[in-house]
Amino acid sequence: MFWRLSLGGETIFMPQRFNYIDFSEEITSDPKHKAILSTDRYTNTEFMQSEWDKIWTKTWLFAGLVSDIQEVGDFFVYDIGRESIIVTRNEAKKISAFYNVCQHRGNKILSLECGSVNKVSCPYHGWTYKLNGKLEKIPDVELFNQRFSCDEKSLKPVRVETWAGLVFINMTEESASLETFLGPIIDQLNPYHFENMKLVKHQTVSLETNWKTVRDNFLEQYHVDFIHPQHASFVDCCDANNDMWPFGHTRTMVLSPVINPRYSMPEEPPDFMSQYLNGLELDPKDFIGKVPEIREAIQKQKRVIGKKLGFDYSEFTDDQVSDVLQYDIFPNIFMTIHPERLWIFGPKPHHSDPNKCSFSKWTLQIPKNKIRDDKRGLELLPGSSDYAYPKDRAKHEIFSREDVVEGRNSMTITIDQDIHYLNDMQAGMHSRGFEAAVLNNDEERVQHFHNWVDNWLSKDSLWSKISNFK
Ligand code: FES
Ligand SMILES: [Fe+2]
Repeated sequence: MFWRLSLGGETIFMPQRFNYIDFSEEITSDPKHKAILSTDRYTNTEFMQSEWDKIWTKTWLFAGLVSDIQEVGDFFVYDIGRESIIVTRNEAKKISAFYNVCQHRGNKILSLECGSVNKVSCPYHGWTYKLNGKLEKIPDVELFNQRFSCDEKSLKPVRVETWAGLVFINMTEESASLETFLGPIIDQLNPYHFENMKLVKHQTVSLETNWKTVRDNFLEQYHVDFIHPQHASFVDCCDANNDMWPFGHTRTMVLSPVINPRYSMPEEPPDFMSQYLNGLELDPKDFIGKVPEIREAIQKQKRVIGKKLGFDYSEFTDDQVSDVLQYDIFPNIFMTIHPERLWIFGPKPHHSDPNKCSFSKWTLQIPKNKIRDDKRGLELLPGSSDYAYPKDRAKHEIFSREDVVEGRNSMTITIDQDIHYLNDMQAGMHSRGFEAAVLNNDEERVQHFHNWVDNWLSKDSLWSKISNFK
């Protein structure tokens, strides 16, 4: 998308900016390959199988939240493809992960999504494992003629690492570290202290679309003017600044709250901006005729109000205080980030059907008890008071696309609008009347993502070279 800037009667077109940033001399951002987005990569089961073999089982995957495993014995189960993985806190400072499959006859051991146990015990014949996966007890062990050690029959481990309250797993022992995988992203996001945020909503919608269709949708802003008309009065997608990283990660930075430059500047602050100003004790009337000054005023006022409320913005730049930042971590999550709130989104492929996936959203916020004076109901970010703080863990709401389209469930109006289109995109991939996507300049992050999908699938992928596995 090119937007028009009128200078002395001349119209200038301004594109989005895309900056290719290497992690190191060896870990470069451009895989030097242009993927063709033909329909088979969205519909073909062999393609899906290669993704499983070369991506999902080889890379670091966001699996859940440290806040779900705070106490010794707490666990959660992460299902991906046909695998099910248990993540436990087995000691005060130690987290373990292992395949959720009993070494007696292969039963799935834990079927709850999360909870707390003293031991990991298979319900079928009672084989019992310690919280670190070590086999501890076999009922009637003398019945087994075959001799084996407990070590041999312990649960098969999976690599696990945590960062900023987020748990990542990796099914390949030889893979390089999470730190190598995320590079400078870690330092950039450390000021947000996601580990201090609290889960206030957890939702999953089932979709009849390939997982990459979901990724594609959130990797471009070309569609925003068309299916999200409400964005015209709070974000400037036309002028987004994008960072393109190795392994398929990207970031987009979108100015907010501002008027989309494709539209004329209103005299008075539109509703969204007025709500934002009111929440921060600023009077929208003071901005009549001065709407372009609102973003800067909000950046300053948040720091003032933040001090009063005990929320510290000192680690953040002005842009981070106001703008919309989206980090796309390959392959399974993207995060929309504000100092006060984190949205994690994750499409997950179906275990056997390339035409299906599930799509989850975790909403985390700074807890109210971190704010000293919350009595006036002030909001540092519009919409943040829409979420009730659950006493225990936020319930995992699971629903269908129809529930969203028919208004029974919502992931916010914007995401609902996206969800509306995703199944239709997949239907198009099966049409005799369509062969391959054609992308414009502003869809460069989609192209980057797919270039890297192809790199991961190739024999000599960068990840395999860095990690030293075949
Ligand atoms: S399958 Fe688990 S104890 Fe038999
Ligand atoms: Fe969208």
